[in-house]
Amino acid sequence: MKKPLIVANWKMNKNVAESVLMVKKLKKSLNRIMDKEFVICPAFTSIYEVSKLLKGSNIMLGAQNMHFENSGPFTGEISPLMLKELSCKYVLLGHSERRHIFFENNEFVNRKVLSAIEYGLFPILCIGEKLQEREKGNTKEFLLGQLKECLKNISAKDISNVVIAYEPVWAIGTGVNATPEQAEEAHLLIRTFLKGKFNYSKTRILYGGSVNPDNIRILISQKNVDGVLVGGASLNAKGFIKIAKDSF
Ligand code: PGA
Repeated sequence: MKKPLIVANWKMNKNVAESVLMVKKLKKSLNRIMDKEFVICPAFTSIYEVSKLLKGSNIMLGAQNMHFENSGPFTGEISPLMLKELSCKYVLLGHSERRHIFFENNEFVNRKVLSAIEYGLFPILCIGEKLQEREKGNTKEFLLGQLKECLKNISAKDISNVVIAYEPVWAIGTGVNATPEQAEEAHLLIRTFLKGKFNYSKTRILYGGSVNPDNIRILISQKNVDGVLVGGASLNAKGFIKIAKDSF
């Protein structure tokens, strides 16, 4: 059985002192749980301190974004090598906030996914439809389009290192999560696509979008939901610990 993957995306929250305090609390509560994998994605300013604290623990470090080049004149960007230096294992790519606020398109996200793999990072590729696509009945085509473009030129060998996060845009930060049926339908679609294209069915597919301590059990009990990507509810230690413990 796959280990459930529980990822905290702190977004642009928590200064260094707050991040350190939070990590200490999480380590204390989660350190004996070995049948799940936990990942924390702090802000870049906190990542160095968090990295030191996580060494040797069962919580992995993730980044919220990266550039695809390893160095150069890219003001304000962080490279895959810089993340590797800090023992970062995962990196979120194509998060909906990157796509919609910072105009990252599928082609750009694809370059990042290829680069992450090249440098030995595990990309968590985020995809998800907006409400208008869902209302028009275009969810399926939309998700398949994102998958095809963002996974272009990825080899069958490398797909085992890729995690997919299905995050319907209308569910992110709204308090309105996808129903378990809607999540399962999308995850099955993603699983079927990956099976067909790469002949690989073990990809971990996470659900994200208003996951909280009350809805975790029902969402994670869906057959094709292998974990969760948690934003708002991951900022509170008690809430995130409950999510972490209640998942499976
Ligand atoms: P949310 O965010 O849990 O606050 O909805 C999820 C995400 O953006 O990854």
